[in-house]
Amino acid sequence: MPLPAYDLTGRTAIVTGAASGIGRASAALLAEAGATVHCADLNDEGARATAMAITDSGGAAHPHHLDVSRRDQVAAVVDNALQRTGRLDVMANIAGIMHASAVLETEDADLDRVWNTNFKGVLYGCQEAARAMVATGTPGSIVTMASGAIDTGAPGLLCYGVTKAAVVQLTRTLATEVGRHGIRVNAVAPGWVRTAMTDRHTAEAQRQAEGPMVRMSPLGRVGEPEDIAHAVLHLASDASSFTTGQILRPNGGVAMPW
Ligand code: NAI
Repeated sequence: MPLPAYDLTGRTAIVTGAASGIGRASAALLAEAGATVHCADLNDEGARATAMAITDSGGAAHPHHLDVSRRDQVAAVVDNALQRTGRLDVMANIAGIMHASAVLETEDADLDRVWNTNFKGVLYGCQEAARAMVATGTPGSIVTMASGAIDTGAPGLLCYGVTKAAVVQLTRTLATEVGRHGIRVNAVAPGWVRTAMTDRHTAEAQRQAEGPMVRMSPLGRVGEPEDIAHAVLHLASDASSFTTGQILRPNGGVAMPW
């Protein structure tokens, strides 16, 4: 039985990026706290696997195909959640992609691709969820996924860092606009977390990035998806009922040390 402030029984959550990594761990934890979780991702098989793992352990979940860069698809997932339970309490905008290229080598197409997923995808999620929460009178929580990349320059991370900084500004702005409806909007800015995204780095990039993270963390380790899922649960739940427009940094005590 979760502590009352963390109990999401009877609540409905949408998690984007739920097929993998931080999204999958967050979907599982929100379900464990009692929410019905809509697991949405571009990767259908992964979204189904996450939803099945939740239902197999006694929770409630529905998989969805979703490309967050398509507003019509985001709206359809929100509509489906409303049709099933009549409410949307939590929108966790976790889907994201990484692109690494030096500023002088960055092409327009690189920036457009990362922007469309990492910023527009979160914008559509925030807009559609907030409209649903206002329309149903639900004092919900919207969580966005930023990154430690917002706090410093880092070689190769122009596109990624720009989109994550924009997500923070979206989070702060929306929080000021929907607070009067009781809706809270907060960002999580994780440090280095072991997921498919970071595994895609070459061995050399892993050594360059992960080594300093471990050395400079007072905790002496990088993050696991579950570390970040607990931050998402905190912001999604009534435990953070007086928190809005904020950035929570689960990063092992490290700002990116490049
Ligand atoms: P991941 O690669 O394991 O998961 C990302 C998920 O997003 C995948 O399931 C992918 O299919 C989905 N996705 C990608 N584009 C999509 C789209 N257009 N529509 C719907 N789904 C889409 O990566 P990870 O690490 O779990 O990342 C999750 C979030 O956390 C991202 O926003 C990432 O930027 C952020 N983050 C990750 C960090 C890390 O060190 N792993 C650190 C800081 C932030």
